[in-house]
Amino acid sequence: MTRPPIVLDCDPGIDDAFALFCALRYCDLRAVTTVSGNVRIEDTTRNALHLLDLTERPDIPVHRGAEVPLEVEPSFAAYVHGPSGLGADPTPAPSRDAEATDAVEALLAHASEEVTLVATGPLTNVALALRADAQTMHRYRHVHWMGGSTTTGNVTDNAEFNAWADPHAVDAVFRSGLPLSMYGLNLTRQVRMAAPHSAALRQAATNSSAKAAAFLEFYEANGEQDGQGQPMHDPCAVLGLTDGARFTTTPSHMVVDTADDSTRGWTRVVDADATDAAPITVVETADAPFLIERIMAAAIAPDGEE
Ligand code: BDR
Ligand code: CA
Repeated sequence: MTRPPIVLDCDPGIDDAFALFCALRYCDLRAVTTVSGNVRIEDTTRNALHLLDLTERPDIPVHRGAEVPLEVEPSFAAYVHGPSGLGADPTPAPSRDAEATDAVEALLAHASEEVTLVATGPLTNVALALRADAQTMHRYRHVHWMGGSTTTGNVTDNAEFNAWADPHAVDAVFRSGLPLSMYGLNLTRQVRMAAPHSAALRQAATNSSAKAAAFLEFYEANGEQDGQGQPMHDPCAVLGLTDGARFTTTPSHMVVDTADDSTRGWTRVVDADATDAAPITVVETADAPFLIERIMAAAIAPDGEE
């Protein structure tokens, strides 16, 4: 199988870790850029470096990104992902440092018509890169973003975490005209893993699967408690690229609310002629059993061949 080239902009984060395993197995991962989100930027960066140590990929550069959102105060989700961002245990010290060049420089350096940008955290880095050089950012083939929701939220009634954490960045990216597919909660809540999956990961007993099992067990204890398992939000944005035929999409127009009130971070589908309506591809449904198999295979063997 041809591996599509991507840059992964992420805030690991338990489901970001699963997204990274998928990116390693199914894509040509050119670079990882980190952003403040689930935990502070020093933690998301250390986690990305640790996950690449674990998977023996010292060749993949990690570029540290934004420490704070564009305008709002930083907010974190350690209550779901753990104090380190990767479950209960502190993340071991990585074997290397992040690159000297930051996330914005890396996003611009990798922009080309063959590369897709997969973003699984707040869109701060992407918005800053657009601010620095919009023309270069428009070279990206497409942006796949896990964030937003066309139904209910997970921070407030309407707002999803990545949209809520930096709504001004979402606004800037939506209005930029970058071709963007939105993998929101309406989609990602269809793709769930639970105790049988963590048991299978433990049993597989590879370096990555043992860690993945511990991450998933923590997520089970601290994530959604509706008895249906944990949504694999972030891997959907990777698999939407590699396994697009397993998803359905609707061309839509959207806006995001930036006011710091109860509507903050609400991503709303609007009429095409509404003020500031941005053309966005809303990802609607997924073949969940197939995708779960893909996520499990990647967590067990991120270096596996297709
Ligand atoms: C999103 O927020 C984060 O907590 C997850 O990593 C995911 O990107 C889900 O709302
Ligand atoms: Ca994330």
